[in-house]
Amino acid sequence: MSTEPTLVTREHFRYIEARTVPEDLVLASLREEARAAGIPAISIGPAQAAFMQILLRAVRARVAVEVGTLAGYSAIALARALPEDGLLHTIEIDPARAAFARARFAGSGVADRIRQHEGDARQILPAFAAGSADVVFLDADKGGYPAYLEEAVRILRPQGLLLADNAFAFGELFAEAPRDPETQAMRAFNEILARDGRLASIIVPLGDGLWVAVKR
Ligand SMILES: C[S@@+](CC[C@H](N)C(=O)[O-])C[C@H]1O[C@@H](n2cnc3c(N)ncnc32)[C@H](O)[C@@H]1O
Repeated sequence: MSTEPTLVTREHFRYIEARTVPEDLVLASLREEARAAGIPAISIGPAQAAFMQILLRAVRARVAVEVGTLAGYSAIALARALPEDGLLHTIEIDPARAAFARARFAGSGVADRIRQHEGDARQILPAFAAGSADVVFLDADKGGYPAYLEEAVRILRPQGLLLADNAFAFGELFAEAPRDPETQAMRAFNEILARDGRLASIIVPLGDGLWVAVKR
């Protein structure tokens, strides 16, 4: 067996997508309606959603916290991986996006498993009790990630899962002159998390790079 990883290409990703449970009607139409409403197309994709659902089921997650709702795509996907008495808290700073998501949750079949919080995650996360969540998913402003990390470590139960999106910095991880101002913040966060001994962490090369970390 070789220790060199197989070089993963676009073809491999297409292969993975073709073998992933396809988007259902609720999520496919949410994506379309969000686009039509001028909401940026920056939600996670179907393969990443499927992977995160597997992780939630593997840790038997009942309570999850999401930072960054956008149109509600990942919130619905995550809520579907929770048991009937489970709860996904999702936090969004933009009132128009929160309102858009609220309307989609209503017809998602999992509305009773989703609790929306409108406002800045920096103010909202401290209200969550220590050790109260099985999973925390970070997918908001990258400059806020170090602060969200501190809150996540506090909120997660032992062996709880931290997921953090965009480890590949919107495809600009190795760019010499990145166009996205958040690239630098994501690079800095990658270094912080890689060295954080409170968690066992690894970047999984799905989507734009997903940090998967277990609280020790
Ligand atoms: C990448 S999108 C989230 C995508 C969503 N998780 C999905 O995959 O469907 C990031 C969202 O975080 C929100 N956001 C940015 N800063 C925030 C903050 N300080 N607190 C809460 N939400 C924030 C943005 O308004 C945006 O809607």
